[in-house]
Amino acid sequence: QPKGLKYYYKNYFPVGVAVSAADLKDPGEVALILSQFNSLTPENAMKMGPIHPEENRYNWKDADSIVAFAQAHGLKVRGHNLCWHEQAPTWLFKDSLGNLVTKEVLLKRLKDHITTVVNRYKGKIYAWDVVNEAIDDDSTKFLRNSLWYQICGDDFITKAFEYAHEADPNAMLFYNDYNTERPEKRERVYRLLKQLVDAGVAVNGVGIQAHWSVYEPGQKDLVETIKKFASLGLKVQVTELDISIYPWEKNQRSLRPGESEVYTADLERKQIEKYAEVFKIFRQYREVITGVTFWNISDRNTWLDNYPVHGRKNYPLLFDQKLQPKKAWWKVVDF
Ligand code: XIL
Repeated sequence: QPKGLKYYYKNYFPVGVAVSAADLKDPGEVALILSQFNSLTPENAMKMGPIHPEENRYNWKDADSIVAFAQAHGLKVRGHNLCWHEQAPTWLFKDSLGNLVTKEVLLKRLKDHITTVVNRYKGKIYAWDVVNEAIDDDSTKFLRNSLWYQICGDDFITKAFEYAHEADPNAMLFYNDYNTERPEKRERVYRLLKQLVDAGVAVNGVGIQAHWSVYEPGQKDLVETIKKFASLGLKVQVTELDISIYPWEKNQRSLRPGESEVYTADLERKQIEKYAEVFKIFRQYREVITGVTFWNISDRNTWLDNYPVHGRKNYPLLFDQKLQPKKAWWKVVDF
């Protein structure tokens, strides 16, 4: 019986996994979680849409059950997330007539939301993704032109951190984003973080989502990103790790010549190498990297089965569809 990831990495960082409340009712998944991981992230349950569906109503059920499970088993919890342009509730940006609210109203709503949610789990959630994905995908632009930005300008970012810090001064607060290894995105995330740090904002770290593929990132790009963020005095957490067998390109909905929908031996080999490579780098930067979390438990059920191509199967994790450790798992613990 192989030991869990969390034991192999106990002198490095906690190893976490994103879960739904339903996962915690599946005996096979529960056994795997408890043997392998020492940190949980609610995959969707704490996002603003699910947890705060109406202005005067919160839906705590799933989030509470995940936190209770973590407490019962001595697992850490990362909160995800407090301010994001996606999975926002429909009421958030509009008034009762359907017009966009003013900046004043939106910031008040943000404050109420953050204060209520952070307060409820105070002392039980050690790190929060406060702002998620605020940088634009277009490399010639800076902040994403979301409704947050359209209504508040860049103030919503600073405010979100302020409100979260006020509610729980002991929680570690993160800015979280994807594709941070790509130089153009890295530079813009760095620019935002530097602004926050220079302004004395209570940001403790940056989340590298790590929705990667067998094709990227290259080692040099990953190392450069870790070093650059660390140079601001920030911690780094790998918050949403998976290694897709398809190239990660948002609008690339068809395969390129030579690419396959089948989990071939060649793709499996590339994935094993990529996992070995990135974990070696994580170990090398253990002073900076304070957590590594996988986005879903096993290849049985991953969000990438549907994203960005609906219904397409993917195999991005360390456990197979029968919840058994894959060859990549053995590589990750072999050091
Ligand atoms: C994803 C979930 O895994 C899906 O179940 C949901 O349908 C959409 O969101 N970046 C993030 C995560 O910060 O919250 C996203 O999670 C994946 C991309």
